[in-house]
Amino acid sequence: MGLNMRKRFSIPRIASSEITSESAYLKRRDFIRAAGLAAAPVVGGLSLHSEAAKSTGGAALDYVAATPGVGGFYTDEKATPPGDIASYCNFYEFGTGKGDPAHYAHEMTVDPWSIEISGAVHKPGKLHLEDIISGFDLEERIYRLRCVEAWSMVVPWVGFPLAALLQRFEPTGKARYVEFQTLHRSDEMRGTRSYTSIIDWPYREGLRLDEAMHPLTLMSVGVYGKTLPNQNGAPVRLVVPWKYGFKSIKSIVAIRLTETRPATSWETLAPREYGFYANVNPQVDHPRWSQKSERRLPSTLFNPNRIATRMFNGYGEQVAHLYQGMDLAKSY
Ligand code: MTE
Repeated sequence: MGLNMRKRFSIPRIASSEITSESAYLKRRDFIRAAGLAAAPVVGGLSLHSEAAKSTGGAALDYVAATPGVGGFYTDEKATPPGDIASYCNFYEFGTGKGDPAHYAHEMTVDPWSIEISGAVHKPGKLHLEDIISGFDLEERIYRLRCVEAWSMVVPWVGFPLAALLQRFEPTGKARYVEFQTLHRSDEMRGTRSYTSIIDWPYREGLRLDEAMHPLTLMSVGVYGKTLPNQNGAPVRLVVPWKYGFKSIKSIVAIRLTETRPATSWETLAPREYGFYANVNPQVDHPRWSQKSERRLPSTLFNPNRIATRMFNGYGEQVAHLYQGMDLAKSY
C-alpha cells in the first residue's frame, strides 16, 4: 500500500447460557485452549500464546466444507499454502513490512473479545466471542484474495455470512451503509505507536448495505479449518472477495449501520488512489501501477507466477448487478 506523500447500551444480549449447548460450549473451550487465547500457559518454556500466534492457526473448527459449484463459494484453483498466508500479510497496526504482522501480532490479546453493533438497528448490542463462535453455522469458502498492490492468494476461509450477523440486530429502514472498526490498543499494536504511522487509527472500512448483505460477504473466524492466526485478523475479520484486500478489515470490534457513507481509512488518506468501492477492476489502473495482472502467491523472482486480473476478481456473475448503471472508472 502506501501513498503518494503529496500529500453503551444494553443488548438484546443473547446470554450464552441460553444459546450455548454443551457441544458448543466445549467447542469454545477447545477454541480458546488450542488457539492459545486464554491464560497462555507455559509449556516446555514456550508460551502457547505466542506459539499459537506464530503458527498457521489455532484450534480445529467445526464447519461445513466448501463444495464445487455453489455461487462462487468454491474455486478449484490451487490454494495458497498456510505458511504463505500466515507470513505474507498486511496489518499496518503491527508495521508496514509484510513480515511484521507474523512477528508482532501475538502481542494482541484476542480474548476476551466483543463486537459492538450500533447505529441504524432496532436491537443494538454486543456480540461476545463465545456468541460469535457458537452462535453461527460455520462454513468453508475458498476465495481468491486480490490485494490492491497486485499480489493475490487463494484462501480456504471458515466463517459465516455477514448478513446472518446483521439480521440478528435488525437494521432499520434508515440503514444504507455499514462501517467497521478494528481494535485500537496501542500498547499491543506497535505499528500504531510509530511516529511514521500514516493512518488515523482505528483502521476503518465500509460497505453499502446491499454489498454487506451479499451472500459472498463473509465474517471469517478461521483459515484451513483452524482459528485465524492473529496476523490474519483474529478472532474475526471481514472477507469481501470481489474487492481489493484493504476492504477485508481485520480484528473487528465495532460495526455501525449508517445513513451516510462512512469515511474509510485508505480512502481518507489518499482518495485518488484508493476508492470507497475498491472493486477489483483490471481496466482501472492505480495511479502508480497497472491493475491488469497480479502475482499469485507463492511467487518468487524466478517464478513470479503472474496471472491476468479478472473483473470483480472473477465474481462478476455474482456481483456485477450491484453496480449496474455506475461508472466504475469514477466510482473506483
Ligand atoms: N485490516 C487492518 N485492520 N489493518 C490493515 O492494515 N490491511 C488490509 C486488509 N485488512 C489491513 C486490514 C490489506 S491491504 C489486505 S491486502 C488484507 O488485509 C490482507 O489480509 P491478509 O494479510 O490476511 O492476507
